[in-house]
Amino acid sequence: MPSRSPVSRRQVLAAGGTGLLAATASSTRAAARTRKARAGGGDGTPEQIHLTWGENPATDVVVSWASPGPATRPRVRIGQRVILAEPRQYTDGINGEAVWTYHARVGGLRPGATYVYVATADNDSNAADPFTATFRTAPRGRAAFRFTSFGDLATPNTAWVLSYGQSAYAVDAVESFQPLFHLLNGDLCYADLNPTVQPEVWRDFGSNNQTSAGCRPWMPCLGNHEVEFDNGPQGFSSYLARYTLPDNHVPGFGGLWYSFRIGSALFVSLDADDVVYQDAGAFVAGPAALTPVAGTGHPAIEPGTSFYIRGYSGGAQTAWLERTLAAGRGDPSVDWIIVQMHQCGCSSSATGNGSDLGIRQQWLPLFDRYQVDLVLNGHDHDYERSFPVRGADVDAGHEAATDAVVNTLRPHPVTTTDSGVFDTSQGTVHLILGCGGTDAPLDEYGTDAADGQRQAKVFTRANRPVPTDTPGVYTRAAADAVEDAIWSARRDTSTGYGIAVFDVHPDPEDFGGQTSITVTQYHAVGADPVNPATGAKGAPTPDYTEFETFILVRPRRA
Ligand SMILES: [Fe+2]
Repeated sequence: MPSRSPVSRRQVLAAGGTGLLAATASSTRAAARTRKARAGGGDGTPEQIHLTWGENPATDVVVSWASPGPATRPRVRIGQRVILAEPRQYTDGINGEAVWTYHARVGGLRPGATYVYVATADNDSNAADPFTATFRTAPRGRAAFRFTSFGDLATPNTAWVLSYGQSAYAVDAVESFQPLFHLLNGDLCYADLNPTVQPEVWRDFGSNNQTSAGCRPWMPCLGNHEVEFDNGPQGFSSYLARYTLPDNHVPGFGGLWYSFRIGSALFVSLDADDVVYQDAGAFVAGPAALTPVAGTGHPAIEPGTSFYIRGYSGGAQTAWLERTLAAGRGDPSVDWIIVQMHQCGCSSSATGNGSDLGIRQQWLPLFDRYQVDLVLNGHDHDYERSFPVRGADVDAGHEAATDAVVNTLRPHPVTTTDSGVFDTSQGTVHLILGCGGTDAPLDEYGTDAADGQRQAKVFTRANRPVPTDTPGVYTRAAADAVEDAIWSARRDTSTGYGIAVFDVHPDPEDFGGQTSITVTQYHAVGADPVNPATGAKGAPTPDYTEFETFILVRPRRA
């Protein structure tokens, strides 16, 4: 296993102080008091340090971090260069805590080069031995590279809802594969499920990720659990404060979706909250209201309230997507188009969310038209792979309650032979990778009792909150339709935890002049707290072993 980049151990410990497995609610409260005291003194010590690609990954990287209090002259140092960081501050709309983040845009770098950087400030309590790490820029041209992906990570601090110790091992797993970068495909830390302590949950998330995200870009997308009450028009203030992402040039929607190029691959990162029918953002189930602290000026949020943002961009995201895909497919230096988004067009988890007709209506036709090769999703906490799909079978679904026929626009597999090598110029492969680290594995999958076929749940309409039999308590229903999931090729029933590793080979010799991507899913067997399929009890584990390998091929462009 390759060694880690040289992050100072003292700095890792200082930054990761609340990310311990044994953390408790009382220790968390004590930590919060300590932080408030430090903030009063203006503690500008960098923490939660992470990298993202700038506009051109071959030459531009952004170093981002937070500090307990406002930083004085926050900056990154690379060799003799000093890059001042831009401040970005927000106040949590529920608990009223101020959060200070900083972003240093480092440009003018050499492609495929390794750099050592320092992140510090005048009021950095570690100024004598400031945070130091290395990163590597992307190669220029048609070069080979590796990336990794999972979603639904959470934090290792089990005081928080949905957090679990596997989250720490998942970060270690990224480092063990030494990718050029990591795609974190949504539902980052579930702060919305811990609404009175959202900044603390984000802090544990950032501290946990730092050992990897401080050394290589982690490129995120928004999931339903990034939607937080009273934090901006879509609830994304926490996310937007922490991440600086490539510019989509769509006024009013910066940072919500973006694209970047590496070698012969175009990466497109979307916010599916904009198109899905499912209502799965911030929610007050009751019977108690959620009452923001007085200083925020926000009124109590009554039981039965959900923050439902479908359609928020008014079509701007889909128009941007079409422009981006058209430009990508029209560019002879692009072979691969790889999309990440959180929610799923092709998921057959029985215990999870399932698929969403909104994605199938608005985006799958564009993926067909522009030959998107690969779609990476999270949302369901498991691993599932589709056959290549193109077009849709009509009227293939049934309403769950009445069995009436429903048009779920079921994705049509171009083959149902699981050969291990798939030409994605003929169809798009969808991967469900919600296997990061939450404590709620969803690795139990649907079966049609009538014919034994694989079965998927599909949201075809909004599941807005409805009253339960308990006065003052509300719920949101599961998906309203089902279909035989003839597009489903492989499902991991042994664990809900894993990491996908992608090796892009622009000029392979094995596939007759075609370019290829080798995909290997590694899984952490035994990590499920309780395996939903078997009932077996497990515990977090550092052991990631191979589940399957398959190869994507497509004709090489010019
Ligand atoms: Fe999700």
